[in-house]
Parts: sequence; C-alpha cells; structure tokens
Amino acid sequence: MLIIKSIDSYKEFLINHKCKSIGFVPTMGYLHEGHISLVRRSKAENDITVVSIYVNPLQFGPKEDFAKYPRNLAFDQILLEKEKVDVLFLPDDIVMYPSPMVLGISVEKDFASKLCGKNRPDHFQGVAVVVLKLFNIIFPTTTYFGLKDYQQFMLIKRLIRDFNLDINITGIDTVREDDGLAKSSRNSYLLAEERMIASSIYKALILVHEYIKTTPLIDSHEVDKLFSSYLRKISPKFKVQYIEVYNRDLLPIDKYIEGQMFLGTAVFLGNVRLIDNLIF
Ligand code: PAJ
Repeated sequence: MLIIKSIDSYKEFLINHKCKSIGFVPTMGYLHEGHISLVRRSKAENDITVVSIYVNPLQFGPKEDFAKYPRNLAFDQILLEKEKVDVLFLPDDIVMYPSPMVLGISVEKDFASKLCGKNRPDHFQGVAVVVLKLFNIIFPTTTYFGLKDYQQFMLIKRLIRDFNLDINITGIDTVREDDGLAKSSRNSYLLAEERMIASSIYKALILVHEYIKTTPLIDSHEVDKLFSSYLRKISPKFKVQYIEVYNRDLLPIDKYIEGQMFLGTAVFLGNVRLIDNLIF
C-alpha cells in the first residue's frame, strides 16, 4: 500500500498507473468493519482503491468533538494493508486548506433543516467542501459511502448531481455489532455501562418500524413517544435529539409504502451522540 501525503505525489501516481477505474472511500480514520465493508466493495469493483483519512475541521461545530476525535493511524494502516488497499491518501490541514477559502458551498435550507442538519448547523457544508476537494484530487470513478450516515450519502449524491461530477456513488448497508449497535468510531467514547445498553437505540427503531408498518397514518408525535419512552425506560441517560420519518428521498411521507421508508435518529447516551437509521 502506498501512503501518499501530497497532491503532487498522487498526480505522479496517476500518471504512472494508467487505471480504468478508481474506487474511493473517504474516511476520518479510527477504522472499523463498517469502513472495511466500503473498502471491500471498492476492491471488488475497481482497478485500484484509494482510501483517505482526514479529520476535517470544517465539519465540526465549535462545541463538538474535533479535538478529541479518536485517532489511531498505526492500527488503521495495518487494517488497510490487510485489505490490500492500493493507496492511503493522508493529507494534513496545509494540503487540504492551504489558505482560508474565499468560496464555499451552501446547503439548501430544506435539506439543512432536517435530521442532523437541524442540530449541526454548517456540518453538511463542511462535509460537502471537503468531499468535493477530495474528489478533485483523487479523480474517482466510483465513491463508496455508508448508509448509516444516510443524510450525508444523500448530500454527496446531490453534490455529484448539482455540480455535474462524473462520479458514481454506491451506498453500503450499515454494519452492526452482534447486539445491533451500528458500528461507529464514536462508540469508543461509551463507558462500559453505556455500551451495555447502547443497542437499545436499534431496538427502539425496530419498535417504531413495527408501528409505521401497521398504522394507517403515521403520527410523528406517536413516533416520538414510542421511541423516547422505550429508551427512557432503559435508562435516563438516553436523550433523544430527533426521531424523524421520511421517504427515501428525505421528503415528507405520512403512510407506509414498502421499500420507500426512512427512519432516522440521533440520541445522546450520556455525553456521546450516536446516530442510526432504518431503511425499509
Ligand atoms: P467517517 O465517519 O470516518 O465515515 C467514513 C465512511 O464510513 C462514511 O461513508 C460512513 O457512512 C461509513 N460508515 C461509518 N460507519 C459505518 C457502518 N457502521 N456501516 C457502514 N458504513 C459506515 O463520514 C465521514 O467519515 C466524513 O464525514 C467524511 C465523508 C470522510 C468527510 O469528512
């Protein structure tokens, strides 16, 4: 695996390796099996696979976890070597943001006012900027994103469409722990006693999923009540930030249509913010 830290070195690599297809998996590191499932899909479908690791300051709010975001480059490298990744792109802040940017990307109000957008102002702008920059550096034919971060997946789909990027995007199903908890780098923040009950978020989503499938009309208050009271009974440490139902395009829907539904949540467990969703 080549470790490339500069844009010029990557360009040189491209000149020397005339490849038909480049699969690209952008990450912030502290890799787990969720990330690896994206890598495997890319390996299976492309001549070469590029993984980037960069913790992007632009997508973190002032009170969020940028400074303490978990990092373990040595371990990540071993994992990626094992998967026979061709290139690990490892830029630093100077490579990604050599000078303060004059231009930016603004995210349309309706998109930014739902799910994570509502609670993390500027987050998706920051994601769109860094991903567009990475696309322009890496030149991927196909990029791979996890459906665990469904709103991010939809954002990048729109980025590709709105800016006429010649890139395919593939969404990959959420990889979970044995008890159902969605794998996430942020799970490492959980205390042992919190980890024991964290899978209740997934169980509460399944409960709401049953309600949605059987009710003639979806009542958002009922959804909130069902979900929140289930978690509250498990522990007062759960604080629901949002639980929202949309169709797969993230547009409002009030009736169950098979194969069209999206149910997404963000929950604080103690101080740790976890997101999860069901697509059904
Ligand atoms: P990060 O949180 O490291 O995630 C990198 C990719 O892995 C994303 O596409 C995410 O959806 C996917 N992923 C994370 N957990 C997963 C799981 N349990 N199952 C399947 N896929 C999973 O998302 C980011 O980084 C950043 O916002 C980034 C796109 C790199 C821009 O900075």
